[in-house]
Amino acid sequence: METVTNLIEKAYIYHTLTVDEVIKILMADKEETDYLYKQADLMRKEKMGDEIYLRGIVEFSNYCVKDCNYCGIRRSNKQVTRYRLTLEDILTVCKKMETVKQTTVVLQSGEDSYYTKEKMGDIISAIRSETSLAITVSSGERDIETYAYWKAKGMDRYLLRFETSSPDLFAVCHPDDDLDYRLRCLANLKMLGVQTGSGFLIGLPKETLAQLSADILFATSLELDMIGVGPFIAHESTPFKGAPLAYNRELYFRVIAILRLLNPKAHIPATTAFDALLPEGRDLLLARGANVFMPNMTPQPFRQYYQLYPGKPCLDEDGDDCAFCILGRINRLGRKVGNDAGHSKRI
Ligand code: 5AD
Ligand code: FES
Repeated sequence: METVTNLIEKAYIYHTLTVDEVIKILMADKEETDYLYKQADLMRKEKMGDEIYLRGIVEFSNYCVKDCNYCGIRRSNKQVTRYRLTLEDILTVCKKMETVKQTTVVLQSGEDSYYTKEKMGDIISAIRSETSLAITVSSGERDIETYAYWKAKGMDRYLLRFETSSPDLFAVCHPDDDLDYRLRCLANLKMLGVQTGSGFLIGLPKETLAQLSADILFATSLELDMIGVGPFIAHESTPFKGAPLAYNRELYFRVIAILRLLNPKAHIPATTAFDALLPEGRDLLLARGANVFMPNMTPQPFRQYYQLYPGKPCLDEDGDDCAFCILGRINRLGRKVGNDAGHSKRI
């Protein structure tokens, strides 16, 4: 019988595991877990270097046409005050980002049909012509013509999580969505040559460890440029309210470390929702395989209206606070900020 330590060694060398092997690593004991983190950190250092790339997130609209059962800004949540930032607001934030070592802007929103192909294209071209930032968009499912148009306007990357690779669980979570269509969007983005990021929620209601392992392997099989995953945290104004945290906190961190071993050259962010698990969650991830940090640059007073889950950090802070806070955090970790755009290492 292979020990968990052997399996971690195997993943480190071959970047491949079976579902059962992933389950075993997910259930690692304290000593094995420490070894897993050590190897993931080593792999990150070897393949991605010591740079941490800063990608400022601007949550530019919280309107959403979709009704995902886990999400705090779902269409049916009437408690949310809806907002859209103006182009001027967005450009002001982007220019600020350039002064605090952030080399990418991540434009994130709900699925908001107000942003037609052309309107979003105008925002992308304005950022492209007025700043030197790389541009990532994360605004949900669109047709291939729209993605192609945005790429032509200057979009470098796109983030679209598949959320779960189980068609049944996907259907339970997304009353008005379809896993096949989501995957087609990801395939279209890759085909267009847009750097593509995806990932999943850890611990959705009724998820099993076998399903979580399948998600880890599925994300790996997509050969992604970026992999973003985070814990599912139940929101009180959604159908999934009251759902307990599915796993022991440590298990969530093992997911990131395993993803690093299986995807040596993917950019892996320390996602914000990990701070809702533990106050230092994101810093811990940066020493356990992650190499990207996404400071919240959404201007006030809008941050409180973009709560996909409770316990989101930095709601009272402003862009400046997060921008300087992360520079201090990186310093304390003994790492450095990436000066270039931090494009995909796969291409
Ligand atoms: N808990 C954690 N993450 C969530 N997201 C949406 N709702 C929640 C929640 N309740 C994540 C989804 C989405 C990303 C932008 O936020 O994975 O893709
Ligand atoms: Fe926002 Fe530290 S990252 S205050």
